[in-house]
Amino acid sequence: MSREDTPTAHIAAQYDDVAKTVIMCGDPLRAKFIAEKYLTDPVLFNEVRGMLGYTGYYKGKRVSVMGHGMGIPSIGIYSYELFNFFDVESIIRVGTAGALSPDMQIGDMLFAQAACTDSDYGHQYGFPAKFAPIASFELLEKAAQVARENGFPFQVGNIYSADVFYDESDRQMEWGKFGVKAVEMEAAGLYINAAATGKKALTICTISDQLVHRKYASTEERRSSFTNMMKVALEIA
Ligand code: HPA
Repeated sequence: MSREDTPTAHIAAQYDDVAKTVIMCGDPLRAKFIAEKYLTDPVLFNEVRGMLGYTGYYKGKRVSVMGHGMGIPSIGIYSYELFNFFDVESIIRVGTAGALSPDMQIGDMLFAQAACTDSDYGHQYGFPAKFAPIASFELLEKAAQVARENGFPFQVGNIYSADVFYDESDRQMEWGKFGVKAVEMEAAGLYINAAATGKKALTICTISDQLVHRKYASTEERRSSFTNMMKVALEIA
């Protein structure tokens, strides 16, 4: 698998169009914004299903940025194709999360060291028991260093990758009792695909909702914390 399998079903690009490091975010228009604001000479490589992907340069490094949609099945497809067919080495997801820990503030960054999930995505790989999806320590260490150097507030810890946003069971808060800091919907799928291919992955989330205290980010808080998160992702790319 690789070069001869590109373009893929969901990424209409040639093998060389995609950089070996891809920064991904849920919203494809956010990917467009990142490419246009932060990358030099961005070139569009995909618009299948509107899932925009661009390759350009950041401080001379070749980097791609692409949307991944919402949920594990969606990031599962894109990260599978990028790792397996485009030989991408690292995927850094930047997104938002809801805090399950009372001590995470709106705007704080969380580097997801590991991801719990009740999704069955990993079933396909036939693990002999429950698998613990984890981030690349190399990317995690670099991210913490960049955040520290820039004075960005951050925490490192466990995240919960849910399959549902509107949780009728209302049980997601129970993860907080086990030190799980926040909930989002993609990290576990990304980490499982990275493990299956021997590649690197990291999820960086900014807290947009404080679910314990029922507080939600203002537009300005979303904007400034997004800028910090992008700086970290681009520096470690
Ligand atoms: N649930 C799931 N994903 C999220 C949330 C949430 O509350 N906030 C931001 N991403």
